[in-house]
Amino acid sequence: MSIKEEIVKILKRRKHVSGEELSKKLKLSRTAIWKQIKNLRKEGYDIKGTPKIGYTIISTPNQPLPAEIKSEIRTKIIGRKVFYFKEVESTQEVAKTLANAGLEEGTIIIAEKQTKGKGRAGREWFSPKGGLWLSIVLKPNIPTPKIQRLTLLAGVAVAKTLRKLYKLDAKLKWPNDVLVEGKKVCGILVEASGDADKVNYVVVGIGINVNIRFIDKKELSSTATSILELLGEEVSIVKLTVKLLEEFEKLYLEFKQGEFSKIIGEWRKLTQTLGKKVKVESYGESFTGEALDVDEDGFLLVKIKDGSTVRVVAGDIYLRET
Ligand code: BTN
Repeated sequence: MSIKEEIVKILKRRKHVSGEELSKKLKLSRTAIWKQIKNLRKEGYDIKGTPKIGYTIISTPNQPLPAEIKSEIRTKIIGRKVFYFKEVESTQEVAKTLANAGLEEGTIIIAEKQTKGKGRAGREWFSPKGGLWLSIVLKPNIPTPKIQRLTLLAGVAVAKTLRKLYKLDAKLKWPNDVLVEGKKVCGILVEASGDADKVNYVVVGIGINVNIRFIDKKELSSTATSILELLGEEVSIVKLTVKLLEEFEKLYLEFKQGEFSKIIGEWRKLTQTLGKKVKVESYGESFTGEALDVDEDGFLLVKIKDGSTVRVVAGDIYLRET
C-alpha cells in the first residue's frame, strides 16, 4: 500500500486524526504528511484540517481510485494491485502490455475515461467519464480454447452485483452482454495470450455504464442504458467496483477449484437467451434456430431447422419473436 493509500485508510476509519499521529504511524515528517494530504485534495478528496484536532475526510471522489478500492475491498487476489489512469486509449491494451512484462494475477487496470475503448468484434466501446472501465489480469491454468468460460463467469459476477446492490433485474445475453429492461448496461471482452495447451494470461475487460446519460447519444440510446438512467440517480463507482471484484473473486476461486458447472448453473438462471428463437451471426454466416443450452465450455448450442444442433463458438445473437 502506498503512503497515500495508508492515509486514506486511516482517515476513513476515524472521525479525525492528528498530523502528529499520522506522522508517527507512518514514520514520516509532518511536512511529508501535509504534502500527501495536499495531493489527495488535488485528486478530489475533501479533507478538512482543524488545528489541534487534525484531519477529517468530508467526502471522497466518485472515482475508483486505488486508495478508495483498497480501503474497502476484502479479496485475496482480485484487485489487490490497482493501476489507475485518468485517460487511456483502452485498459485492455494497458493490461496486455503490463501482463507481457509480468504481473501478479488479479491486478486490475481502471481508467476514468477511454479514448479508444474496445468492444467485441473490433467494435468501438463508448467510454466517457462516469463509467466503470476495468480490465482484470488472470493467470488460470487452462488451455486457450477454454477462455470463453471466463466470459460467462464475468457476466454472472456483474449480474449478481447489479442485483444485490441496486435490485436491478439484470439478465445475461450470450455470450457477454448484461441487459436490464432489454438494454445493454455492460459489455465484457475476454482476450488471452498463450497457445492451445495453456494460456500465459487472460485479460477480462468489463465495461459498465454507470453514471452516464445516453440521451445525447442517439445511435446508442435505443440499445444501451446506464445505472443512472435506470435508477434515476448517480451511484458510487467505488462501491460498485469493490462489490463487483468481490463477486468476481468468489466465482473465480470456484472456477480454479474446477467448479465450473456450478457457475454455468448460475448463468442458466440469469440468462434470457435459452429457450428462445435466435438469429445467429457467426464468422460471416447467418442462420436461425432455437437456443437450447450452453455446453461445459460456455459455447451456445442452437437447434436448427433440420433438427441438428450447432455449437456456436463466437458471434452475435439476436432474439426473434417467431
Ligand atoms: C462488448 O460488449 O463489445 C465488450 C465491451 C468491453 C468494454 C470494456 S471497458 C474496459 C475494457 N477496455 C476496453 O477497451 N474494453 C473493455
